[in-house]
Amino acid sequence: MLPLNLRPFGIEGTIHDTTELNELNDFEFAPGHHVSIPGTDTIRRFVIDGKRYNVKEKLGKGTYGVTYKVEDSSGREYAVKITKKLRGRDKTHFLIECITQIFMELGSRDETDGPYVPVVYGVGMNPDTGHGYLCSELMRNTLDSFIDVNGPADNNIVIPDALTQVAKMLDFFYKKYRFNHRDLKADNVMYVKKGARRVFKLIDFGFSCLSIPRHGTYPLTIKGGSYFDSTRECFKDERDMSQLMYQILDYKAKMSPELFSRLSDMLVANVKRHKCRMADGCPLHKMERWKNTYNFLNRTNVRVPFGEPSRVTEQMKLFTEGKPLDRAVLKLVAKPCPPGTVRHPTTRRCVKEGGKAWLSFNPVAVANAPCKEGEERNPATGRCIKKCPEGTRRVEGTRRCVKKLKPISTEVV
Ligand SMILES: Nc1ncnc2c1ncn2[C@@H]1O[C@H](COP(=O)(O)OP(=O)(O)O)[C@@H](O)[C@H]1O
Ligand SMILES: [Mg+2]
Repeated sequence: MLPLNLRPFGIEGTIHDTTELNELNDFEFAPGHHVSIPGTDTIRRFVIDGKRYNVKEKLGKGTYGVTYKVEDSSGREYAVKITKKLRGRDKTHFLIECITQIFMELGSRDETDGPYVPVVYGVGMNPDTGHGYLCSELMRNTLDSFIDVNGPADNNIVIPDALTQVAKMLDFFYKKYRFNHRDLKADNVMYVKKGARRVFKLIDFGFSCLSIPRHGTYPLTIKGGSYFDSTRECFKDERDMSQLMYQILDYKAKMSPELFSRLSDMLVANVKRHKCRMADGCPLHKMERWKNTYNFLNRTNVRVPFGEPSRVTEQMKLFTEGKPLDRAVLKLVAKPCPPGTVRHPTTRRCVKEGGKAWLSFNPVAVANAPCKEGEERNPATGRCIKKCPEGTRRVEGTRRCVKKLKPISTEVV
């Protein structure tokens, strides 16, 4: 694929066999190859590279911009992502996002059902306003909104199908580019229809990492997004699928209980020697949604074996055939604790929330929980202990109660 001249896509620069990472800083969006946006909120028309496009509808909105469905004068439709105004590092990140999508398209266009991403028609930036744009193939719908508007009957078929297709694409890109998407959610998975079939594609490479292969090695890695620590290794085999499956759990009511529990059972994270079910939020590891989910899954000591693409494919096939979970998954599954209980981090038992064992590992709860009738807080430990009986007092810093001494009368008779 190298050398790759990016000029036809709207970027001044060529990636050679010898290109170093810092050389990408000199790449620029091609002058004249830019988008003019007449209004701000009420955009009706774009001019890209002198060609006019009419805006038909707003397709979606994210952190960095808005995507519109547009039509050229011949009636052909496209998707155009217009970013907010970009400067400095944000501009470089957008450039990396565009280069990533171009590599993904070129690298997968010869595969069956390829390319696995929307075709890139042109990218650019308006030097006066700082708005960037990415004009690409129009997709039919996101997996997210499909699941949302349909019920279990359809979703039980489409979710396993989508996961199987995504697994195939990721496996391909993992091998080819040591690629990680790092923002894979159901709104970044879209499809086009080929007859009655849904052909899924990946979109939104704003956080992605990709290594450009040269003679079987990967000397050049490009990383999107300022969100992640830039020194961190990008590639992690099972990270993207775990994140996607975890987010799909949000649609519990839109799938059968069997599919929901199948996905939950697959999402067992190994954190050092401990296991935790992501469906329960892995409370001991502070895996809060969503910001922390990204970092949680990026940690090198967190592994989710059944998020690995080939295992997702296997398990989804079993599900579709009406067969139970693989024995290997069951071995991993830490049974969920019954309601009102949580797993103790060291004994691994399910302990009553608010109970003595729970308080022993939850200092925040200790400090906040109200004491029961007849108890008071021990200021030394923060725990609740029985009040001292009438006529006695606590020896400071201990649980001991001693008789109160009669006050010495100071009254002068
Ligand atoms: N090629 C496309 N065809 C149709 N809709 C798209 C396309 N690309 C993006 N969208 C819509 O726009 C939304 C936001 O686009 P995305 O690239 O994910 O931007 P962001 O980085 O802001 O999340 C998507 O979730 C989807 O609904
Ligand atoms: Mg997105």
